[in-house]
Amino acid sequence: MRVLMTSARSYDRASFASQLGERQSSPHTFTYSSARLEASTAGIVAGHEAVCAFVNDDLSALTLERIAAQGVRFLALRCAGSNQVDIEAASRWGVSVARVPAYGADSVAEFTLALLFGLARRVHRSHSRIRENNFDLSGLVGIQLRGRSVGVVGTGLIGAATARLLLGLGMKVLASDPVGQVPDLVAAGVTYLELPELLQQSEVVSLHCPLLPSTHHLINEESLALMKAGALLINSSRGGLIDTPAVIRALRSRHLGGLAIDVYEGEKALFFADHSEDIIGDDLFHQLKSFPNVLITGHQAFLTHEALAAIAATTLDNLDAMEAGLACPNLVLPRP
Ligand code: NAI
Repeated sequence: MRVLMTSARSYDRASFASQLGERQSSPHTFTYSSARLEASTAGIVAGHEAVCAFVNDDLSALTLERIAAQGVRFLALRCAGSNQVDIEAASRWGVSVARVPAYGADSVAEFTLALLFGLARRVHRSHSRIRENNFDLSGLVGIQLRGRSVGVVGTGLIGAATARLLLGLGMKVLASDPVGQVPDLVAAGVTYLELPELLQQSEVVSLHCPLLPSTHHLINEESLALMKAGALLINSSRGGLIDTPAVIRALRSRHLGGLAIDVYEGEKALFFADHSEDIIGDDLFHQLKSFPNVLITGHQAFLTHEALAAIAATTLDNLDAMEAGLACPNLVLPRP
């Protein structure tokens, strides 16, 4: 099958080339395009039966209609989230969609801790100071994490892996998940609470839920008001979980003690590309960057050699199964 990889970067090519090389023979030939797939760029799929898309490709109804009209029958997402795809429209246009539900929970969990450590100990600030030969420590007083309370919102694969690491740090781990409790987390000492109680009791809140209509702006004016004064907020999940203007107000009033994010609601226009020569018109992003107690990374929590290899392997398996008409366990189906 001819597969077009959109939003492709050097590390994607390397991991897919390596996985294809490991298989004796693969029925798939890949073309790599750095262009982001959206309705206006849909013409790039011409001549391909499958598209391998990423988190910020825009698979809205119009894009799906246009790619289906050019013969695309399969959409293999090389990521876990599928919030960028209009699944009903995909089904309408006869495009099967698969994702990679589990490829590196530990990679994302470890990066979440990197964000937490960085924010708690002001690592981002000392790094930039030292590049300017400024070795003054004023303003860099941090907090010790052992013994502090942390609320893990969502204990699926990544939230559970994060909770285990946080327990290892000696933190008091609270959790919230509408689907229920993970027994081995409870056995290890995690306390499940309803979200409002978790927010009220946590000195650190870490988000690990998918972006759904029910979780859009989960962190908003009201939920921020419930949080402890000075609490830290970490988001390595999806930018849309956070109402950014509300968070900026909470940072300004100093109610929120710090923010570390790997994802941002407006990231589509920014992330995964070099904009160092551009004038960035996103004022919310400029405001976020201006705070000393805000640490931002560009959606890189997944980016380890291990996770990239797993993503490539599962994506190829998904393509094999979809093309052969076999049951693909990773299909994303319209809601019943
Ligand atoms: P998962 O599906 O295994 O777990 C998500 C959990 O969130 C589920 O247990 C679900 O019941 C829970 N949940 C749903 N609504 C909730 C709510 N209102 N409050 C609390 N919990 C709620 O998903 P996984 O793989 O653990 O991914 C978590 C997040 O990480 C997703 O948003 C995913 O898109 C994101 N992600 C980010 C990456 C990055 O590079 N920054 C890489 C991979 C995933």
